[in-house]
Amino acid sequence: MHHGEKKQQAAKAALQCIKPGTILGVGTGSTVNYFIDELPAFRDQLEAIVVSSKASEDRLKELGFTITPLNEAGSLDLYVDGADEANKQFHLIKGGGGALTREKILAAAAREFVCIIDDSKWVGVLGTFPLPVEVIPMARSYIARQFVKNRGQPILRQDFITDNGNEVLDIYNLQITNPVEMENRFNQIPGIVTVGIFAQRPADRIFMATEDGVKEKMRG
Ligand code: A5P
Repeated sequence: MHHGEKKQQAAKAALQCIKPGTILGVGTGSTVNYFIDELPAFRDQLEAIVVSSKASEDRLKELGFTITPLNEAGSLDLYVDGADEANKQFHLIKGGGGALTREKILAAAAREFVCIIDDSKWVGVLGTFPLPVEVIPMARSYIARQFVKNRGQPILRQDFITDNGNEVLDIYNLQITNPVEMENRFNQIPGIVTVGIFAQRPADRIFMATEDGVKEKMRG
């Protein structure tokens, strides 16, 4: 089975989390796109939809959905999103698609954060996938130097500006052995908008597609 099929299976499994009256947060990426494609069948059950990116907003609008701003929606019942890596504590690396800041906000605002992945994303230690960091452009070089001091190798994502008008550094070679501590520490560096480690607010539930079907994991 190739990655696309697995992503679709994980996405379909997450549909069971939608209940009548759900205020839903929708993330970003190719796995979430499969989830979005299934949403028209659940239209009546969705009280409101909030999105983490312009890309997901456009896809939902094409299907006839109206998008509610987070400020109007209040708390989300459910947030569904993919990840670039996940570990057994349900800590994640996110931001491969560059939407990490809004994703972190929606995860924080959600009662339940459901992550949909294929099993290639499941790792022992986070960091093989380069860590995305959204930065204020004028602080880019300063921030890059701070990561070099931490033995990381920062690369500016080429021809890419986030939905918030910022840049993304992808940090290679980091061994994220203590995700909560590292998320906290990197958050202190001036000019960083968001670090793509999702550990202080991990996923609550993971649907992981494997060759043997979708495995559901609950945190705690
Ligand atoms: C978007 O910014 C990311 O956090 C995505 O959740 C992540 O890159 C997963 O993307 P795919 O579903 O395309 O693998």
